[in-house]
Amino acid sequence: MKKIEACIFDLDGVIVDTAKYHYMAWKKLANELGFEFTEEQNEKLKGVSRMDSLDILLKFGNVNVSYEEKCLLAEKKNNWYVEFISNIKDEDILPGAKEFLQIVINNNIKTALGSVSKNAMTILTKLGLENYFNSIIDGNKVVNAKPNPEVFLLGAKELNVLPKNCVVFEDAEAGIQAAVNAGMYSIGIGDRGILSGANFVINSLEEMEIDKFQLL
Ligand code: BG6
Ligand code: MG
Repeated sequence: MKKIEACIFDLDGVIVDTAKYHYMAWKKLANELGFEFTEEQNEKLKGVSRMDSLDILLKFGNVNVSYEEKCLLAEKKNNWYVEFISNIKDEDILPGAKEFLQIVINNNIKTALGSVSKNAMTILTKLGLENYFNSIIDGNKVVNAKPNPEVFLLGAKELNVLPKNCVVFEDAEAGIQAAVNAGMYSIGIGDRGILSGANFVINSLEEMEIDKFQLL
C-alpha cells in the first residue's frame, strides 16, 4: 500500500454540488451577451479562476470587451452565484463526502481543501464543514488557478506532507492536471473520458474506501 499521509479535496463538484450553480451563472451571463453556452463547453471552466473562466467564456461567444467591462461581467456572474448558494443546505453536500472525510480523519490521514474559489469559506461555514480540514486553501490564498499546481502544493506545505504522499480528489480536467503537475496521486470524480489523466476515476465519494489507495 502506498504511503498516503494527506488527502486534498477540491470543493465545487467534489464536496458540494455547487458546480451546477457556477454553470447556471455563466450560462445566464452568456445568454445575456447573446450566445449559448453548453455543459460540454463548461467542462473547460471547471477548476479555473473567475477571471480566466470569463476569458474562456467570452472566447466561446466571440465577444471582445475592455478590461473594465470584464470586471463588471465577472462581478455580475459572481452576484448571481452568491445568490444561488445563499440557500445552500446539507442536501447540497455530495453523497459520501462527509462520511469519507470522517473515515480519512479516523485513519489519521491529514485533510486539506484545495479550491481556487473565493467563495469556498462561505460555503464551508454555511454547511459546518470547516472543521473537517486541517488546512483550507482557497482562491484568496493563491495567485494561480488550476492546472497550475500552486493550490495543492500550498496545501501539502501547510500540512507538512511531501507532495508524493498526497492524494487529490477532483472533478475537473484542470484539477487533475494540477495534481499531476504537483507530483501527487489523483482520484477523479465523474466522467472517465474527461478525467482520463487521473490514477483512477469513481462516480462519487460514496464509492471511496481507504483500501482503494492500494490501486494508486
Ligand atoms: C472553482 C470552480 O472551484 O472555483 C470554478 O470549479 C470557479 O468553476 C472557480 O470559476 C472560482 O470560483 P469563484 O467562486 O471565486 O468565482
Ligand atoms: Mg471542482
